[in-house]
Amino acid sequence: MNTFDHVLPIVKDVLKEHRLQLEKVGEVIINRDLNGRIRLVLSNTSADTDQTKSAMTTLAQALSSRLGLHCFPPEDMVLFETSLEAVLQDAPHFQLEDLPGVTVVDRLATDTDWSIISPISTLGSRIVFFSIKGGVGRSTALAAAAWSLAQTGKKVMVLDLDLESPGLSSSLLPDELRPSYGITDWLVEDLLDNTSPVFESMVAISNLSHDGEIFVVPAHGKNPGEYVAKLGRVWMSKVKEDGSYDRWSSRLNRLLDQLQARWQPDVMLIDCRAGIDEVASACITDLGAKSILLFALDSEQTWEGYRILFQHWRRTGVVLSIRERLQLVGAMIPEIEGADYRDALGEHSWNLFTEEIYDEIPAGETTGDRFSYDQHDESAPHFPWTIKWHRGFAAVRSVHSRFQQIDPDEVNTIFGPLVHGLQTISESEEPA
Ligand SMILES: Nc1ncnc2c1ncn2[C@@H]1O[C@H](COP(=O)(O)OP(=O)(O)OP(=O)(O)O)[C@@H](O)[C@H]1O
Ligand SMILES: [Mg+2]
Repeated sequence: MNTFDHVLPIVKDVLKEHRLQLEKVGEVIINRDLNGRIRLVLSNTSADTDQTKSAMTTLAQALSSRLGLHCFPPEDMVLFETSLEAVLQDAPHFQLEDLPGVTVVDRLATDTDWSIISPISTLGSRIVFFSIKGGVGRSTALAAAAWSLAQTGKKVMVLDLDLESPGLSSSLLPDELRPSYGITDWLVEDLLDNTSPVFESMVAISNLSHDGEIFVVPAHGKNPGEYVAKLGRVWMSKVKEDGSYDRWSSRLNRLLDQLQARWQPDVMLIDCRAGIDEVASACITDLGAKSILLFALDSEQTWEGYRILFQHWRRTGVVLSIRERLQLVGAMIPEIEGADYRDALGEHSWNLFTEEIYDEIPAGETTGDRFSYDQHDESAPHFPWTIKWHRGFAAVRSVHSRFQQIDPDEVNTIFGPLVHGLQTISESEEPA
């Protein structure tokens, strides 16, 4: 009996077995609907000749006999559209491996994608802090990184995109400095083209910065207001005047572009949600990040989670456009036997990257131009930038007060490799 994961491999097999028929029908979209059922979408010019009609019938029957419940019956299987381009718009899609001209359009119940990677933003460096599991010290590390970069004279903008569990801004701002609005307010007002009252009042300058500046863009304003009601609307696509959709992630991108133009930060640090959810997806894939930091504890759950994500990127063919932007961060390296822990973390990370992300190097050959790294290469994406677990940060009541008392040596001891790595990234040229 087939289940969801059998569907695409079967479609691939059937289409490969019927290559001749496939060539006759031309470009094909495999539409996988919300229930996981398959249909073929073809250009309406495809139905023109008897030859193509018979090829379509053969394909539909072959798919139906192999997929059963997971596709439409042969007589309803094929849909015709004037523009295949339009079908691809506003829905996640990817090429089916080894089958040029065959694209899968995946209709998801959420606005999640993870499979179309936006090019790196040209407006300034954006760095996303992501973790597959929560509570690993991601937001604290981001605040420490902002503090350190500002110490070196940089203008840093920090965005709290962990909208469902906000908190980053309180580490950088005392209550009285909080702005009136936050990202949630902007996204809701954007639905009504009413962002101007919000835009100038959603950024605060942290009092922790000395030489540089830290601009903080919180999830919500000083008074969160009807936060739950607003949160329920931020993920909405906006219907544009011409009837097309502006996905929420592209709305968010617009906000980032405007913030960058207005405040001209040297670097933008983005705290995104933990786990494989839609906000995280947008932060990783859609915001044109220059670098994506993957926070990890050395646990089976962590590696399993990252494997699911990496395999999805491989399956959907985007791994090549994202892999050079990835960087593993080893979170909360324990005080006791830290070196052993770090070695094990480095090894597990390397195993994962080698199996899922790096190019294979055939025996006897050298790396050459291939994207592959030695396990101990410190410049490699898998080589963890480490953050030490430190009692001074464990269960602190106010991270803001903690940062008011901190000195550069202490930050360096705990967060040194992260800060150094970020400095290098934010100063480096954009990859070609
Ligand atoms: N380097 C560290 N050493 C010890 N404790 C830390 C360290 N960094 C953060 N903590 C503590 O760990 C807890 C979680 O930290 P934080 O909120 O930064 O994690 P997070 O990954 O952002 O969590 P979430 O997924 O909930 O947003 C907090 O109590 C924080 O004070
Ligand atoms: Mg956090």
